[in-house]
Amino acid sequence: MAFERVGVVGLGTMGAGIAEVFARAGLRVIGVEADAEALARGRGHLERSTGKAVDKGRLEPGQRDEILGRVTLTTSREDLRDVDLVVEAIPEILDYKIALFKDLDRICEPRTVLATNSSSLSVTAIAAATGRPGQVVGMHFFNPAPVMRLVEVVGTVVSAPGVVADVAALAGRLGKTPVAVGDRAGFVVNRLLLPYLNQAAVLMELGVAGRDDIDAAMKLGVGLPMGPFTLLDLIGLDTAYEVMGVLFDETRDRRHAPAPLLRELVTAGLLGRKSGRGFYGDSPREEPAKSRLGTFGVIGGDGPAEQARAAGGGGPAEGPRAAGAGGGGLAERLRAAGFKESEDPDVVLCLADRPVIEHAVRLPDPARMVGVHLVGDQVAELASTVLTSEEAASAARDLVKIAGLTPVPCKDRAGFVVDALLFPYLNDAVRMHESGYASIDDIDAAMRLGCGYPAGPFEMLESLGLAKVRDGLRALYAEYREPAFAPAPLLDQLVTAGVSRFPRP
Ligand SMILES: NC(=O)c1ccc[n+]([C@@H]2O[C@H](COP(=O)([O-])OP(=O)(O)OC[C@H]3O[C@@H](n4cnc5c(N)ncnc54)[C@H](O)[C@@H]3O)[C@@H](O)[C@H]2O)c1
Repeated sequence: MAFERVGVVGLGTMGAGIAEVFARAGLRVIGVEADAEALARGRGHLERSTGKAVDKGRLEPGQRDEILGRVTLTTSREDLRDVDLVVEAIPEILDYKIALFKDLDRICEPRTVLATNSSSLSVTAIAAATGRPGQVVGMHFFNPAPVMRLVEVVGTVVSAPGVVADVAALAGRLGKTPVAVGDRAGFVVNRLLLPYLNQAAVLMELGVAGRDDIDAAMKLGVGLPMGPFTLLDLIGLDTAYEVMGVLFDETRDRRHAPAPLLRELVTAGLLGRKSGRGFYGDSPREEPAKSRLGTFGVIGGDGPAEQARAAGGGGPAEGPRAAGAGGGGLAERLRAAGFKESEDPDVVLCLADRPVIEHAVRLPDPARMVGVHLVGDQVAELASTVLTSEEAASAARDLVKIAGLTPVPCKDRAGFVVDALLFPYLNDAVRMHESGYASIDDIDAAMRLGCGYPAGPFEMLESLGLAKVRDGLRALYAEYREPAFAPAPLLDQLVTAGVSRFPRP
């Protein structure tokens, strides 16, 4: 099927970008908005986005004129009469979409393919509302559409032969990488991404760590392009909230229940970038006061309880005894920065392999103990227990900053911040593959190209070590008793079998 004239309905965060992608590839585009005001906003998105490309030297001014010249903007759906394809990008509410598709079915020629850019809604339900269910598919672009390379092409049990392949070929012509999948809430990317973003909001609500610290941990520690709250603001909190609701309705998994904080922000009209304020947009956080600090001790590594006991009355009797590269690295960095190890240290950093509090209660002065977990080579999570003094917490922050690391203060909870967010996401990916929904390579490609992640979940699992992730999941399960945190059977079995890579065909 040849697609030359396409319609895009809804020119908001996604639709304007999708219209631009089609026009850049030489297709003629009719963009439809709800009213004149929204149309003007849509035109503004298109002009700004292509204008920026010119400013950055990625587009010649003449090319920009040609692209904009291929786009016709209208508030009348009737103008879509003779297009080959319509991509819908209106809000993520099933009733709105069904009403729109019924109307498009009436307006467009029977050969026209109708596609939804929905992030999570049932394509089957939308298709079934039309008189052409075989011609209705999902064509799910990622934000920002002109940049992200992935398009999920969603077929249903009633898709006509060849339609998914034709739409996938079109995605290829747009310079995108298509991944063809079946119709499940959230498809590949949002089924894995949104629960992680939602869990970040839950951790913040529980007071495990703050917004900026969680964002810094995931960006600098894991190497993601941005932290979860920055991404939620980019996606739009209303869209994220709706997607979570759809996931929950399908799975009844309590982790998919939208975080109450999301509902509150959405109700307040704080939707993220598109409304000017969401998680961000307030005044910047004040830096905590600096502490006075001279000495430190490090305990932990193998046999931490024994080492803590050996630390006796005044801290680590034999100086830093951190085991493992991370611990050794921290002590070295601190020594290089001129700090002294002391038997009466200002602060005891505990390289914890289990709850920090279990180590702290063995010290004569547990108020001085802060748990440390190094993530990558830039981030140190600093876990305060219920007994940690504010002075010790602040001293630990200063220490790791001086050591050239970004401190992420958090509560003493299993997985602290990074593992608590990362490991369940990796586990979900294994379960998704185990269920037969998508291949390892498709899942990895989808997360890399749809989210700009440096590696897909299976690549991350293999580089972290399957046993480490399995054990971390066990600890999370033991702490939160959340069934979805129990290691996926495939992961568990590979670790038991001593295998370090996932089998691929
Ligand atoms: N935001 C993201 O990161 C993202 C990513 C991928 C997919 N999606 C999906 O794309 C769709 C749109 O999301 P968005 O974030 O662009 O929303 P948005 O709120 O930014 O834009 C929606 C646009 O649709 C317009 N609209 C509403 N009703 C309309 C109608 N009846 N006819 C024409 N236009 C209408 C609105 O005026 C608005 O401009 C949703 O299904 C969402 O799940 C969003």
